[in-house]
Amino acid sequence: MKAVILAGGTGTRLLPLTRLMNKHLLPVGKLPMICYGIDSLREAGITDIMLITSRVSAGMFTSYLGSGAEHGVSLTYRIQEEAGGIAQALELAQSFVGEDAKFIVLLGDNLFEEPLAPHIEAFMRQEDGAMVLLKQVPDPERYGIPVFDESGRIVHIDEKPAHPKSDSCVTGIYMFDSAVFRFIGAQTPSQRGELEITDVNNVYARLGKLAHRHINGWWTDAGTFQSLLEASLKLSGKEGDAP
Ligand code: DAU
Repeated sequence: MKAVILAGGTGTRLLPLTRLMNKHLLPVGKLPMICYGIDSLREAGITDIMLITSRVSAGMFTSYLGSGAEHGVSLTYRIQEEAGGIAQALELAQSFVGEDAKFIVLLGDNLFEEPLAPHIEAFMRQEDGAMVLLKQVPDPERYGIPVFDESGRIVHIDEKPAHPKSDSCVTGIYMFDSAVFRFIGAQTPSQRGELEITDVNNVYARLGKLAHRHINGWWTDAGTFQSLLEASLKLSGKEGDAP
């Protein structure tokens, strides 16, 4: 199975740290953030990885990560010319993924403590469609938040809702079949001018093909100062020291 890591975007919530440095190369503990996602995928047995980033940052990623050999993976790089959204970045992976393949998309600022393998194996057993992983959070208005029907199936995801209907959020790992590229192709930009991953997931949800599982281990989206600091403390073994 292949995976795509998204490491573009503008990192505005971390300005001025991200004025010169791509968010995913900022230090988390002893390593640049991007290393944790690569290692999580490798530990789940996924070694064929496409990394998508911006034109201005690509050189730093290739200098640091090279072929991926030091991390035990094989990296292919692609440039997203402008930060037009997560789904727009993902579209660039179509030829890498190929026809009729299931694959994983990981947001490069998402850090998972628990092994991804059991979730990926569950997705492999799923006939088709997509799967997302949910995590209970204290601040659901920051994320994509699922709405469930009586049977517990996701019928819709609200992106950063002012009044969240659940305290479980959609984390930044998405498992798709190749129909995802057809869905992205039919998408139009959101109000903020981006192709939204939540709109893509909502197509699967409407078709009744969006499965989910819950994660119990520590997880963070390290895209804010607070979460970046917490991630650094957690991953350098100094958890609990955060102010
Ligand atoms: O972390 C989980 C959340 O990630 C989900 O709950 C939300 O539903 C989802 O929309 C996303 O929200 P964020 O606001 O955190 O997305 P952000 O703009 O920070 O982008 C997430 C990652 O995708 C980040 O690692 C950079 C990358 N990215 C983003 C954009 C907009 C790209 O590679 N290209 C882009 O154009």
